[in-house]
Amino acid sequence: MARALGNGWAAAGHELRYGGRGEVREAVAFGDVTLLAVPVSALAEVLGEEDFEGRTLIDCTNAFEPDGGSMVLGEDAVAERVAELAPGARVVKAFNLCAAEVWEADERVFEGRRLAVPLCGDDAEALAAVEQLVRDLKAEPVRAGGLNRARYLEAMSAFVVGLWFAGVDARAALPPLEAAFAIPD
Ligand SMILES: NC(=O)c1ccc[n+]([C@@H]2O[C@H](COP(=O)([O-])OP(=O)(O)OC[C@H]3O[C@@H](n4cnc5c(N)ncnc54)[C@H](OP(=O)(O)O)[C@@H]3O)[C@@H](O)[C@H]2O)c1
Repeated sequence: MARALGNGWAAAGHELRYGGRGEVREAVAFGDVTLLAVPVSALAEVLGEEDFEGRTLIDCTNAFEPDGGSMVLGEDAVAERVAELAPGARVVKAFNLCAAEVWEADERVFEGRRLAVPLCGDDAEALAAVEQLVRDLKAEPVRAGGLNRARYLEAMSAFVVGLWFAGVDARAALPPLEAAFAIPD
């Protein structure tokens, strides 16, 4: 995910620093925004000793665990745990829905609609920064509520990816907005 998203941001003109093992501190200190793209099992180790005070931290992680041919979540609120592990960080859940291959490809418009990226977070400045990073990837940001709603985005990812792995087009299960009875007649 770091490579896939990072290449897109580099192409949009951003300067990046990748923080592999032993380099996390330098990467966190480098930029305005940090992308957290590690296995959930590594979160405590990666976040534990860094100072994220005031920094925007994008959490794209998924706590997927195998469950037969599909997957379930090993925990149900990773982004909230990230916020606890990184006190002072302005955490935004984003980019956990689409596979890295989506970001490595050029296509952003599917069936005539630009790919939307739901964002969950509590800090307006951080959300605005991540919205711009979404646009820099030629996708459309969608504010989807506070960090307390990130758990639904995480569950959605597990459910939808499970459908995709089963060969079901998850887009077919959802009506367009006009037919969703969410707006008055
Ligand atoms: N791949 C996807 O399509 C996709 C889509 C949406 C969300 N996600 C989520 O994004 C996160 C990253 O996934 P990924 O596919 O990019 O994984 P990945 O290719 O395995 O990369 C994970 C990176 O984290 C590093 N890492 C692991 N443990 C670490 C530690 N203790 N300290 C420092 N670095 C550590 C790894 O370093 P080493 O190589 O040295 O182990 C590797 O560079 C996961 O939470 C995943 O659920 C993935």
